[in-house]
Amino acid sequence: NGELITLGIETSCDETSAAVVAGGRKILSNVILSQTEWHEKFGGVVPEIASRKHLESICAVVEKAFQEANVDFNEIDLVAVTHGPGLIGALLVGVSYAKAVAYATKKPLIGVNHIEGHIYANFLENDFEPPFICLVVSGGHTHLIHMEDHGKYTVLGRTLDDAAGEAFDKIARALNLGYPGGPAIDKIARMGDENAISFPVAQIKGSDLDFSFSGLKSAVLNFLNHCRQKGTPVKVEDVAASFQKAVVTALVENTIEAAKKTNCRVIALAGGVAANSRLREEFQKRAGDSFEVRFPPVKLCTDNAAMIACAGYYRYRQGFLSDFSLEAYANLKL
Ligand code: KG4
Ligand code: ZN
Repeated sequence: NGELITLGIETSCDETSAAVVAGGRKILSNVILSQTEWHEKFGGVVPEIASRKHLESICAVVEKAFQEANVDFNEIDLVAVTHGPGLIGALLVGVSYAKAVAYATKKPLIGVNHIEGHIYANFLENDFEPPFICLVVSGGHTHLIHMEDHGKYTVLGRTLDDAAGEAFDKIARALNLGYPGGPAIDKIARMGDENAISFPVAQIKGSDLDFSFSGLKSAVLNFLNHCRQKGTPVKVEDVAASFQKAVVTALVENTIEAAKKTNCRVIALAGGVAANSRLREEFQKRAGDSFEVRFPPVKLCTDNAAMIACAGYYRYRQGFLSDFSLEAYANLKL
């Protein structure tokens, strides 16, 4: 039907994913193989295990993506792959695989920034367009971005220490809720009182759109230590809910502030933490009639290759192209 078919590949962390996307936004398939079972007993992602598992699964995951999309290797027009930021060994598996496909099919290759991919999850399956303010909150990143147009970003704020998702994961670990921590806290917090404990919401002097979560993390850990020392029983639901409230408050306040400063009426959320139900609810509430808040479906918030295909398609349309010298960068900047 004339629409460009993009194969997307994502292996930056602990999800091996391949997707086939038509015309940049229409998902024909989006296969996501999570490695959680291999990492959870270590309480976090083990980089060496991640690379090995990607290597074992990448061929089967891509084949499944083609099968589900009912598309053949020869029918793709473009290969888009995450080349950073992320775990270097994990990224290299996807990048090498993508190069091989591009070489064999003689189709163009596009390296995609993972953070840009998260933003583009907002474009899948709808006709949303910039400009807007995007809050990207994942396990590795917390960025407040003004997206003026495709490929045109200004970073307005970022975390000075832990990423929001990292804070969720660390607190979940301290509460023995397992890995990954975000979904576990989200769930158990619904049964708790978020006003039970007043944890600090980080206020940063000077750079008022930046974030900091290490103070909050220490406050929660200190609280738990105190309880243990004094033998006071800990209500895990209340701690989870109160911690979550503090994170959500910081994220929502800074984002609304950024929208006001840039005269943006539209706010988009992205990244794994954007799956958080309390965060979505609070954004809707605070936005009222003044702002329009958008977020991708939960499945597209966390790592997936459809968002990479979408971002790659738009980069291609802007005239970007990678070649076989494309490298993986653990700290690739937006
Ligand atoms: O975007 P993502 O899949 O991977 C990275 O690029 O980091 O995000 C994973 C992060 C993890 O820290 C996980 O705990 C968090 O997103 N997360 C959540 C929720 N679902 C995933 N955090 C809070 N609430 C959730 N429902
Ligand atoms: Zn991610």
